Amino acid sequence: MAQRIGILTGGGDCPGLNAVIRAVTRRSLDRGWEVAAVREGWRGLVDGLVEPLGRREVSGILPRGGTIIGTSRTNPYKVEDGVEKVLAVARSERLDALVAIGGEDTLGVAARLHAEHAFPVVGVPKTIDNDLNGTDYTFGFDTAVFIATEAIDRLHTTAESHNRVMVVEVMGRHTGWIALHSGIAGGADVILIPEHPITVEDACALVEKRHEGGKDFSIVVVSEGYELTYASGERTLVAGEARATDQFGHVVLGGVGDALAREIEQRTGFETRVTVLGHVQRGGTPTPRDRVLATRYGLKAADLVQEGRFGRMAALHGDEIVDVSLEEATAELKTVPPAWYDVAAAFFG
Ligand code: F6P
Repeated sequence: MAQRIGILTGGGDCPGLNAVIRAVTRRSLDRGWEVAAVREGWRGLVDGLVEPLGRREVSGILPRGGTIIGTSRTNPYKVEDGVEKVLAVARSERLDALVAIGGEDTLGVAARLHAEHAFPVVGVPKTIDNDLNGTDYTFGFDTAVFIATEAIDRLHTTAESHNRVMVVEVMGRHTGWIALHSGIAGGADVILIPEHPITVEDACALVEKRHEGGKDFSIVVVSEGYELTYASGERTLVAGEARATDQFGHVVLGGVGDALAREIEQRTGFETRVTVLGHVQRGGTPTPRDRVLATRYGLKAADLVQEGRFGRMAALHGDEIVDVSLEEATAELKTVPPAWYDVAAAFFG
């Protein structure tokens, strides 16, 4: 009987997921494996949502956003008998291996299942936030940065025409990678990120300095996880809804852009507007770079399965696709180092 490989996508959807599914499926079918879609992330293994995946199902999906096999933020460790159910479904569905495509939450579950139950799983690093450890870049990040940069470029038009301060709030959860890269690429005058929180007072001073220097408009990029930080030392995390949203305990972020815009307008007197990019950053077709990266990751994951090297994650080091342990990848978040922030700060004010 042919060996059988399952594929699941967990957490927020992300451009490039389908490219990984296609690559894992094509390579595994070529090697004589059967391929199965585990639908809706870990929920699929808890509830037994497994169906065959063939060449026809993965045809034409390379440029498509989202995930054809669905996703969820289900955490089997937070579901009653969740882990036992995962193990039982994997057995009854005859899964010899699983490719889990996800971020720190999805891969954190994979790492635990492997460590505690020798579960035959390999990981693929997905997230627009680019905050996974052990890899230089996750797929999806390039697309999010592309979308955010294009938005900043367009907002420049209104900023210049109306002599306004335009605040752009981008995603990224507790790291500022999207804000940093889109801000650098879009020529932002101030960038506020969680890792290097400049104060509201300093941000306003940078805007005023620009205006004194003869520039009547400014672009301010703020990461959703930036805490409003004041010279007094006071810090406030602005959350969209004051509740944990999922089984991984994440709070819904969002709203800091609005709060910051009000502060800037009040303190500087300059007319200020805010744009929240939200899920637009995760939507639609992946960039060519993400399609290529996702494809390379998918082939690597299929190779790791073929070699029986479970508990590993495909990763990018420089331009090489390598593998790292799932444990290392999920041990801590990859945050923006000071040297990276310095690149952006060279253009502030
Ligand atoms: O992790 C990806 C991400 O888009 C974050 O940047 C953001 O904070 C979060 O997911 C939003 O989650 P949801 O889609 O559940 O609103």
